[in-house]
Amino acid sequence: MNPDQTAPADINDPTAVAGVMLREAWYYAAPAHAVGRRKTIHKTLLGEPVLIGRDSHGHVFALRDTCPHRGTLLSRGHFDGAEVECPYHGWRFATDGRCTAIPSQTPDQRPQPNDIRTQSYRAQEAQGNIWIYIGEAQTPGPVPDVPVIGDQFGLHISMVFDCNIDLAVSGLMDPAHGAFVHRSAIWRMQKSIYEKHKLFSPLNEHGRIGWRMDKHQASSNSRAYRLFLGGAPQTEITYMLPSVRIEHASTGLYDYCGLTACTPIDAQRTEVHHAMYWNVPGGAVLKPLVRAFAWRFLDQDRRAVMDMVAGLKFNPATMLIRDADQQTRWYFKLKREWLAAAAEGRPRLNPISPITLSWRS
Ligand code: FES
Ligand SMILES: [Fe+2]
Repeated sequence: MNPDQTAPADINDPTAVAGVMLREAWYYAAPAHAVGRRKTIHKTLLGEPVLIGRDSHGHVFALRDTCPHRGTLLSRGHFDGAEVECPYHGWRFATDGRCTAIPSQTPDQRPQPNDIRTQSYRAQEAQGNIWIYIGEAQTPGPVPDVPVIGDQFGLHISMVFDCNIDLAVSGLMDPAHGAFVHRSAIWRMQKSIYEKHKLFSPLNEHGRIGWRMDKHQASSNSRAYRLFLGGAPQTEITYMLPSVRIEHASTGLYDYCGLTACTPIDAQRTEVHHAMYWNVPGGAVLKPLVRAFAWRFLDQDRRAVMDMVAGLKFNPATMLIRDADQQTRWYFKLKREWLAAAAEGRPRLNPISPITLSWRS
């Protein structure tokens, strides 16, 4: 037996990297349509309060959502499209975090607006998504993007999983749960389980480390794809730490892209975002159906993860098997590398080698 066959799972090891929220990364914060012009919203990202706004020119910005005066949530105040006004004493802040007014101060008192600022975050809007950079890097690199597939119809759903990011990520990437968790005539049935062999290769782009499941014919037991795209597509899946999975299915004629991103709200809650793009004719008409299907699918994942969380409260001994759990093992391996590279002040390396993994699903 290969000694690596049943390595102890890091998921439950409090001394390892489990539960750690990685910094120096773009995180999916919200779909672009959630932030209207001259509007702000509040999000908690990695335990940090973040105000996300869109100014009167349409540009997205992000500030720490606590007033430097007494800590009030700035997002509860008024935003005129240029400056955010704190609802408590009316201190005002420009979209880059500079304080522009402290109404109660006489001219000879300190502080004056020039002495004050609230932290700003890098924010970027792309492909209908808003990303926020959590970290201090001067050059954070580009945000993750899906392959451009022409005339796209977008759809977004999100859901909060009451667990840390590791359990959300590993629960979603798990390749062997489909027939049990997503039991459905349209998707796949338990009796259609069969052996699969998939080629994986390492990924290291713009400091983002992860892996790619090379192009393969989509499972012949995935009826949904065939119904939706009108044929058996080729599928390519990439996973990039901390938490972005991109799936691209193409029949040559039509494409579907799915972007799944897990963003820690804090150490105990994770928001899972799923953005979808497709160019099937009449795609807009399909939106309500796709939304209902995607929501049900994600909720099945959520409930499966919650059942695991309930069991893990008893601190059972668990294991990560080969090859079905290999992606979860890579996730933790790359997470350790992410933290080691940060501690040593060096670029991230990718220790994964190309490999074919086999499992039945
Ligand atoms: S708490 Fe914001 S102005 Fe006082
Ligand atoms: Fe799933």
